[in-house]
Amino acid sequence: AKPQTSVKLVLLGEAAVGKSSLVLRFVSNEFQEHKEPTIGAAFLTQKCQLPNRTIKFEIWDTAGQERFASLAPMYYRNAQAAVVVYDVTKPASFVKARHWVSELHAQASPDIVIALVGNKVDLASDDNGPRVATAEGQALADDEGLLFLETSAKTGSNVQEVFTALANKLPEP
Ligand code: GTP
Ligand code: MG
Repeated sequence: AKPQTSVKLVLLGEAAVGKSSLVLRFVSNEFQEHKEPTIGAAFLTQKCQLPNRTIKFEIWDTAGQERFASLAPMYYRNAQAAVVVYDVTKPASFVKARHWVSELHAQASPDIVIALVGNKVDLASDDNGPRVATAEGQALADDEGLLFLETSAKTGSNVQEVFTALANKLPEP
């Protein structure tokens, strides 16, 4: 059998950007049009099969609502991987994502592997108001040494790829 490694992963991002929806798509390949806001945090696990090893992600899906902000350090402390999510149709959520990346670099483990994810690409179109440009997300990722993908939890586009890319970037034990 392939060696299996457990990896603690945390999702961070403004309320309603789709953190729980990304996890639901990754874990169950499902989508809910009216997903309830997360209270506190939710815990789920899912495996990612790489050619030479299995990564078991232990996922802490945090609540984005401001009243839960003080809990976040409990979940990113000791995390080996993080997914920082924004909504490509909500520029304010990209500003918040920048703050999360700074906070992780200041407070989390120095070798944490971080993916920046612009979610809800299915909603991005000219008649849907301002969109966070792909180049803006890519520039932040390049400056900060992050993986970067644009996703849709609704269609499933690039969701598996986020977790596979993180798994591939984790150091071998
Ligand atoms: P908190 O738990 O409050 O922090 O929110 P969250 O980031 O977990 O967001 P959640 O996954 O609950 O999604 C919020 C809303 O956006 C829900 O109604 C989802 O159905 C919707 N949603 C999530 N991802 C997508 C997406 O990729 N496309 C579209 N169109 N809607 C999405
Ligand atoms: Mg949630």
